[in-house]
Amino acid sequence: MAKVALITGSTAGIGKETALGLAKMGMELILPVRNAQKGEAIKQEILKQSPQAQVRLYDCNLASLKSIQTFTEQVKKDYPQIHVLINNAGVWQQNQALSDDGIEMTFAVNHLAPFLLTNLLLDTLKNSAPARIVNVASDLHQGDINFSDIEFKKSFSGIGAYKQSKLANILFTRLLAKKIEGTNITTNALMPGFIATELFRNIPAFLRWIIPIFAKTPKQGAETSIYLATSEEVKFVSGEYFKNKKRGSSSYNSKNIQTAQRLWEISEQYIQKVLS
Ligand SMILES: NC(=O)c1ccc[n+]([C@@H]2O[C@H](COP(=O)([O-])OP(=O)(O)OC[C@H]3O[C@@H](n4cnc5c(N)ncnc54)[C@H](OP(=O)(O)O)[C@@H]3O)[C@@H](O)[C@H]2O)c1
Repeated sequence: MAKVALITGSTAGIGKETALGLAKMGMELILPVRNAQKGEAIKQEILKQSPQAQVRLYDCNLASLKSIQTFTEQVKKDYPQIHVLINNAGVWQQNQALSDDGIEMTFAVNHLAPFLLTNLLLDTLKNSAPARIVNVASDLHQGDINFSDIEFKKSFSGIGAYKQSKLANILFTRLLAKKIEGTNITTNALMPGFIATELFRNIPAFLRWIIPIFAKTPKQGAETSIYLATSEEVKFVSGEYFKNKKRGSSSYNSKNIQTAQRLWEISEQYIQKVLS
């Protein structure tokens, strides 16, 4: 039986290459997408490169907690087993924007969405153990969680919101690893590298010139995600931060379990407010 992997953000950039790579390795793919046309295009590309691949598309807008809930209810009916969850999708907002739930977009898509998706799929992952959860973070996880204004309502900063969301990915990974100890599910976070993708579509034009000079390709960007999802070398490793397929160092604040706990509780409150 093929292993089943669920990948968010597979319609572009690093997620697309992750999906192509895992299909080539024989994994069956579940791809939640918000844009059906882009979803169909990536499915066709996967089938062209891996004609035997099993790929199923689902509608899921990560900027809507209800959409994530509806998607997981359906996917759990269709798939009793999911062995790999890759929380890859992400946004970088230059200007302030709100999710469908009225929550600051970066916090909603980059943190609350993987937080909810993972928690809703935990039982399925436990039933499929050994299983792995891979969270795509970034070396830009600097600073701290802005608890006094987590949505940057008073003064919006696109880079500030992005950095906070990537720190949230690592804090979530570390606390989740503790919570799932002994379940035979591992979870790790990673830095994919500086990769030429659509993520930077909104950054100021005067900064965009550095991308083709310094950035690596999306295929290179997918390497550490694929490694963490499949390699025997990291079978038992959990709660760590990886770069270039090796353990890397993350910031002092990203190791603060009290901060991770506080963020977890706040995230639950956000979700309860929207879904109850
Ligand atoms: N590129 C880098 O240098 C870099 C560095 C460090 C970390 N990262 C991280 O790598 C991850 C992937 O980013 P990327 O660079 O590959 O960016 P990208 O090319 O912009 O791809 C982002 C993906 O996320 C999806 N997405 C965004 N909002 C969504 C929503 N509301 N619902 C469903 N899907 C949504 C996009 O779907 P659509 O196609 O529908 O827009 C797309 O598939 C992100 O977590 C990012 O923070 C990237």
